[in-house]
Amino acid sequence: MVAIAILAAGRGTRMKSDLPKVLHELGGRSLVERVLQSCQQIQITRRLVIVGYRGELVKESLIRGQEISGKNLQSPPLEFVEQTEQLGTGHAIQQLLPHLEGFQGDLLVLNGDVPLLRAETITQLMAIHKQHQNSATLLTANLPNPQGYGRVFTDSQNLVQQIVEDRDCTQAQKQNHRINAGVYCFHWPDLEKILPALKADNDQKEYYLTDTVNFLSPVMAVDVEDYQEILGINDRKHLATACDILQTRIKDKWMAAGVTLLDPNSITIDDTVELQPDVVIEPQTHLRGNTSIASGSRIGPGSLIENSQIGENVTVLYSVVSDSMVAENTRIGPYAHLRGHAEIGANCRVGNFVELKNTQIGDRTNVAHLSYLGDATLGEKVNIGAGTITANYDGKNKHKTQIGDRSKTGSNSVLVAPITLGEDVTVAAGSVVTEDVPNDCLVIARSRQAVKPGWKLKEPQK
Ligand code: UD1
Ligand code: CA
Repeated sequence: MVAIAILAAGRGTRMKSDLPKVLHELGGRSLVERVLQSCQQIQITRRLVIVGYRGELVKESLIRGQEISGKNLQSPPLEFVEQTEQLGTGHAIQQLLPHLEGFQGDLLVLNGDVPLLRAETITQLMAIHKQHQNSATLLTANLPNPQGYGRVFTDSQNLVQQIVEDRDCTQAQKQNHRINAGVYCFHWPDLEKILPALKADNDQKEYYLTDTVNFLSPVMAVDVEDYQEILGINDRKHLATACDILQTRIKDKWMAAGVTLLDPNSITIDDTVELQPDVVIEPQTHLRGNTSIASGSRIGPGSLIENSQIGENVTVLYSVVSDSMVAENTRIGPYAHLRGHAEIGANCRVGNFVELKNTQIGDRTNVAHLSYLGDATLGEKVNIGAGTITANYDGKNKHKTQIGDRSKTGSNSVLVAPITLGEDVTVAAGSVVTEDVPNDCLVIARSRQAVKPGWKLKEPQK
């Protein structure tokens, strides 16, 4: 039986932020959400999150995050434990005492500010803990620059003798580059007994969780292979470094899977994105959220795709696509903006300076220049002339526009919604169409041109 506890009560003073540190975002997800995610490979019976500084906010954010990502059925519900005063990591774990009374299993403790741990690393730590029947097992790493981390001192068997915080280290102790990652597995019945005995006799006058190793035995250190995993976020610079590490991981994975990235440093990809082989991502392109891109598509340069599904062999050039779908062989851009559930069919063209909001477009339909279509449904093989606008908003409510197959709008037409144009309709250029038009009609809704022969301005009299 394994319970997990996440330390998320601190403010994170060094972030210089009102937002609790663990709610800062890294690649579209909060730090604490990422920590929870790193435990997804192990069987867990309880999930406790220790909250304090703006605890309500942390709670709400985690619950909301779960709703969005869809609850993992295997995960037990989140339990929030309040630490009203933040007197140290040991004090935080002391708050669990009433909640875990009689619990006979292991407690996996993770700092809420260590977001890059791989699930495999946690699995491995737990396996070693079990295999050796340790009282505690903790994750360590050899860092080129160990500054700021607690140093771990072990004997030749990898058994931990003590952990000394950076600020409490002597010059000699600082030479030890083996650091505490802030990830521990404790046999709870052992920890439970000694937790009340922690003292705050250190530079910070805090109760350190790390002091528990002085009272437990055996305590084993397990080195993580890739030390980048254990980066703890204490300030904005760490956050930027973590962002880089995460991006490198994600990009390496997609390149290995057959995706071309041109100038990878200028591209960002969230780890929630799915790409198929033979996708090409051009420079200055950003792929975010729940986005997928099918084989043969070419995105960018200069594009942002967010929560959208892109079919095969689509091109998106200098454009923004949010919460939308684009079917195969369609060309988007340059400079198009799709948002609010736009759905574009196959073999379409959505071109220069076109904005589509909540608009569905059938196959082989073109909206090539300078249009706004909102709340509209277009059939197949429709041609929208340059500058066509749906006037969908009457100042209070939004209204729908429908356009049947093979219809064409002339340049600079305004379709005042609610309105329905049938199939094979032609709208004359410059029309303001306010009433429905049946199939197979030409509609002209503008004043007729007047030409007056021989007409001249009168000369002003001197
Ligand atoms: C801690 C470890 C250090 C380790 C490092 C790894 C201790 C004493 N030190 O130091 O050995 O190398 O993590 O990143 O544990 N928190 C609470 N309540 C509190 C204090 C902290 O919930 O009263 C939470 C914070 O929100 C944070 C985590 O505990 O998520 C770690 O606290 P932090 O102050 O960042 O500890 P470090 O100084 O980094
Ligand atoms: Ca920290």
